[in-house]
Amino acid sequence: MSYPIIFKEQMSEQVFALRVRAPQIAAGALPGQFAILRINEGGERFPLTLADWSAGEGWIFLVFQVVGKSTFTLSKLQVGDELKDVVGPLGLPSEIEKYGRVLCVGGGVGIAALYPIARALKATGNRVDSIIGARSQELLILEKEMEDVSTSLAIMTDDGSKGAKGLVTWALEEELKGEGADLVLAIGPAIMMKFASAVTAPFKVPTRVSLNSIMLDGTGMCGTCRVEVCGKTRFACVEGPEFDGNEVDWNLLLNRLGQYKQEEAVSYEQARSGCCRE
Ligand SMILES: Cc1cc2nc3c(=O)[nH]c(=O)nc-3n(C[C@H](O)[C@H](O)[C@H](O)COP(=O)(O)OP(=O)(O)OC[C@H]3O[C@@H](n4cnc5c(N)ncnc54)[C@H](O)[C@@H]3O)c2cc1C
Ligand code: FES
Repeated sequence: MSYPIIFKEQMSEQVFALRVRAPQIAAGALPGQFAILRINEGGERFPLTLADWSAGEGWIFLVFQVVGKSTFTLSKLQVGDELKDVVGPLGLPSEIEKYGRVLCVGGGVGIAALYPIARALKATGNRVDSIIGARSQELLILEKEMEDVSTSLAIMTDDGSKGAKGLVTWALEEELKGEGADLVLAIGPAIMMKFASAVTAPFKVPTRVSLNSIMLDGTGMCGTCRVEVCGKTRFACVEGPEFDGNEVDWNLLLNRLGQYKQEEAVSYEQARSGCCRE
């Protein structure tokens, strides 16, 4: 099986999008699911969310931020290049029901994971009011797409270069103090999801987050992705990636995400300098 890249777009300085031919994955994909990729024979396995797909045309759409060796290597591939393995769809799909007013909150590249879920929630008859944010205007992705699937869209940037100046969690708090919500869905960096959950807690609004713990096999066998939710160990790859944000042990997750920082920095530097290529 080969997985050729059929479209490539640079969305911002560090964010790229690829459309990859993967008919079997596209045929079974549901919002909230992800794939695990291996770029080449010696490459590591790493997860990316299915940001979109077409069962009819047989492709999946991946949006990724360059943060280390694998994402850097992926960003260098061109249309026509092939990925070694793409496994999916993995993870439990997002629960899509009629809730009422749903606040969809997305930060950075997390907006790509939020998009298909927001679209499905809107199609099911929910009122979807979205808040998306990034450090600055250049880093904001999928604004038009999120606008299309939302009843309203608020934009926040850290430097005020687009929308209002500030954090998505500030806008979330204002919405909860105002009209309130029946469900909050927050997807972005772990620290953003931690604070979004802290904001919703006093309002007692159900809050779903999509956990980005380190994953390896994605099938519940290796335990790499384990997180603690409501005091119990859960495997994010098969029991998630979505969990109740107010039940997640965020400090444990943040510690585990940072545990290989030194090794990751070394292999990223080697990849950038062209050394030790597989
Ligand atoms: C279910 C899920 C969906 C994801 N979807 C997306 C997405 O759509 N777009 C996107 O840009 N990123 C996504 N990520 C994060 C992405 O997998 C990591 O950024 C990527 O693995 C980093 O690899 P690297 O070699 O470039 O960087 P590294 O230098 O190896 O790592 C940089 C940081 O990325 C995280 N990371 C490293 N390896 C993994 C791994 N195997 N699994 C998960 N996290 C890892 C760690 O926090 C690490 O500190 C997702 C993660 C999960 C768990
Ligand atoms: S990634 Fe191995 S058990 Fe989840």
